[in-house]
Amino acid sequence: MIFTVAIDGPAAAGKGTISRALAARFGFAHLDTGLLYRAVGAKGGDPVAVARSLQPDDLARGDLRTLEAGQAASRVAAIPEVRAALVDFQRRFARAEGGAVLDGRDIGTVICPEAEAKLFITAAPEVRAHRRWLEVGGDEEKVLAEVKERDARDMGRADAPLRPAADAVILDTTGLDIAEAVARAENLVRDRLNRL
Ligand code: DC
Repeated sequence: MIFTVAIDGPAAAGKGTISRALAARFGFAHLDTGLLYRAVGAKGGDPVAVARSLQPDDLARGDLRTLEAGQAASRVAAIPEVRAALVDFQRRFARAEGGAVLDGRDIGTVICPEAEAKLFITAAPEVRAHRRWLEVGGDEEKVLAEVKERDARDMGRADAPLRPAADAVILDTTGLDIAEAVARAENLVRDRLNRL
């Protein structure tokens, strides 16, 4: 069975948690596409050359979840040649036999417009910053500024900007706990599986 779940949305909206839960629930493979951009940004050097020669080891480094790695990722992600170098890998992953969940910014719009289920997960910036701050600590105001800066860059870039696909279901997790958000996402995927 070929079945793609496309999960897009801004930083710290809950995409990762929901994607992992969906993959476990339905037995699908999961790809956190933000890691690809984080790995390119973290490696330094010429981002286009790095993206073209990215290796599995590059995704395993321990410092890819930091705020700095997020900012570096957002910057290299605005370079069209970097995005182009990462497209084929993501498309193959999305359409591999057995079903796949991919989370990112452009999965439903660019990487896999034909995805059988599309979710756009969002939440108020203050709520997203608070969740991220609980993970990374430090100054919450700084985390909020970082979230807003990344949102603006990811939505404002010319190539594959962050936006919901026309046929995506919007899931606003501002007032939802994890269990509720996951349950709603599961219902959508189950509904789309029943349509096959
Ligand atoms: O999802 P994340 O926070 O790990 O993503 C880090 C950055 O990578 C994000 O700010 C923008 C970029 N990104 C992207 O442009 N397209 C994707 N599909 C995933 C991430």
